[in-house]
Amino acid sequence: MRVTVIGAGYVGLVTGAGLAALGHRVRVGEADQERVRQLSSGHVPIFEPDLDRLVRDGLGNGLLSFHRSNIEAAEGAEVVFIAVPTPERDDGAADVSIVEWVIGEVGSHLQEGALVVLKSTVPVGSAKRFQDLLDGVGANVVVLSNPEFLREGSAVADFFHPDRIVIGSKDQRAVEQMVQLYTALDAPIVVTDAVSSEMIKYGANAYLATRVTFANAMANLCEAVGADARDVLLGMGYDRRIGFHFLNPGPGFGGSCFPKDTRALVAIAEESGYDFALLKGVIEVNDEQARRIVAKVREAVGGTLDGTVVALWGLAFKAGTDDTRDSPSLRLADYLRAEGARVRAYDPHVRSVPELEMAADALDATKAADVLLIATEWGEFQNVDLGEVRDAMRGDAIVDARNLLDPGAVRRLGLRYSGVGR
Ligand code: UDX
Repeated sequence: MRVTVIGAGYVGLVTGAGLAALGHRVRVGEADQERVRQLSSGHVPIFEPDLDRLVRDGLGNGLLSFHRSNIEAAEGAEVVFIAVPTPERDDGAADVSIVEWVIGEVGSHLQEGALVVLKSTVPVGSAKRFQDLLDGVGANVVVLSNPEFLREGSAVADFFHPDRIVIGSKDQRAVEQMVQLYTALDAPIVVTDAVSSEMIKYGANAYLATRVTFANAMANLCEAVGADARDVLLGMGYDRRIGFHFLNPGPGFGGSCFPKDTRALVAIAEESGYDFALLKGVIEVNDEQARRIVAKVREAVGGTLDGTVVALWGLAFKAGTDDTRDSPSLRLADYLRAEGARVRAYDPHVRSVPELEMAADALDATKAADVLLIATEWGEFQNVDLGEVRDAMRGDAIVDARNLLDPGAVRRLGLRYSGVGR
């Protein structure tokens, strides 16, 4: 099929390169000229396993191309995916102005009968709203919802092996065309109306964020009663109704989706007259979680952070990505510095963050540090020689906000250890 993807961010790029790998002819429209230049020469400006190979394959076999002009990219397409950012507004709701702008831009250039597919996470009711908008300019097209469930760090694998594909439209021909588009993928397909489809995306992210937060709250309680949260969550997870996924306690969830989508769902609920108290509680507990980690660091250095040096391992919001959007690590760095600590950070895939002092490597970050804080669960941190860390540090404390290290091994080296929930 002839496909267009507008927006070459994480979602658009993976979707575009993935669909090209399935044999479709994909044109990606992207406003950033430099990005188009880089991508056209096979350079992928984000770190995502296998994505560069996929992009180069697509460029090589001629099925994938990048365009500065959305109109040029969209002309003649049978399916046009909208994958542009929907950032958070001040009131928590998702801002769809970029989606609106793009649809306005390409609307009158779309081929008769084209499908306009909302891939970005958009407020409930958006498909209908944009359908009305396009009907208004006389475009004879169908707008439908096909939400994205890709996880950063495994987005390419997620594209080829989705848990499910959700198609939200009441238009039978549009649904059949979408099923055809994904026919090479072996996944259950949920066909529903657009509003329900939009709700599935929010529901899935809010539920997963709730699970993480439940694990964090349990870990906090385990600390208070003297239980080991890892064993508690392991014992709970063996119950097949519960399972093990998304129950790892840590510094709170972050990233480009969970914080934004949980707040957006609260805003959607409020607009609809429902008080989503449960989800409000989740957001509150999550905000509190980073404060609790800072309290551990403060306690580890004797009660005041002013004038101390904190080595910070990890800046990405989770391992496997170079993304620092809404990263708990950056939240921690801000709080620590606000209390007068000097923070020296290292992350294997994040080379610089504005105004943050960066170390050359993990060991270098710990030089003369009073305390080491582990904020991202990068596997390579487990291989750093902790004897050398001990010798490099001025202090003797490790706060492991991801429960990455073996507490016994740390303590045997004469270092103090504090994890989450144990
Ligand atoms: C998420 C959804 O999983 C994905 O389906 C959607 O398309 C986009 O949002 P992503 O943002 O890549 O994906 O991150 P995810 O792996 O879900 O993790 C979200 C946050 O929760 C991270 O900060 C992570 O560290 C945290 N988390 C996750 C935990 O603290 N503990 C866990 O057990 C799992």
